[in-house]
Amino acid sequence: MYKKLSITILCFWCAFFTVVYFEKYSTGKELASASTSVYEKKVAITFDDGPGRYTKKLLDELKKRNVRASFFLIGENIEKYRDDVARMKEDGHLIGNHTLSHTNLCRCDLVIAKNEVDMTNQKICDITGEMPRYLRPPCGAYNDRLLRSIDMQFVLWTVDTDDWKTHSVSMIVNEVMKNVKDGDIILFHDIYDTSVVAAVEIVDRLLRQGYKFVTVDELIIE
Ligand code: NI
Repeated sequence: MYKKLSITILCFWCAFFTVVYFEKYSTGKELASASTSVYEKKVAITFDDGPGRYTKKLLDELKKRNVRASFFLIGENIEKYRDDVARMKEDGHLIGNHTLSHTNLCRCDLVIAKNEVDMTNQKICDITGEMPRYLRPPCGAYNDRLLRSIDMQFVLWTVDTDDWKTHSVSMIVNEVMKNVKDGDIILFHDIYDTSVVAAVEIVDRLLRQGYKFVTVDELIIE
């Protein structure tokens, strides 16, 4: 009788600890996988108005960190920096269109607007062999007529660094670090040295926070 009872108690404790052990083990595994692959914060850094004299330095720094960005180019700047445009393509960056002469597309004739876009696409394609699919309209200005007439995906931004106004590395860095969140599209201008220095600092900080850098096509659901 006592023997039977003690075996029953022993079996009960064995079962209890077995359940506790497996629960602990399986929970630990789930947590591990959640932190590595199930959820990943993504952000896209984008550079307008180039290519310019600081673009090469930016490309070097991005390559060192294996980070990809999106560049929205001004057609008139392309000829002088053909090598940088070729390098953008080589390094896996997204190359988009920012019009031929930084024209506000809402304030000009539709024929001129289309020409601004088409000429820039052609200049990019002559170097990369690929027609851009993404357009960032200067000043973020667009309307329904443009959306209907221009067969490209329009891309704006969610975090404005105001880099062209402040020219201050610390203000640019603070503005982004204060506001950035998963899925953001951050706007910089790679025609200023301060913007490039700030962008590299922001990349380093966000990498430490576990962000993954993607190009805008990876964030936008068409
Ligand atoms: Ni611009």
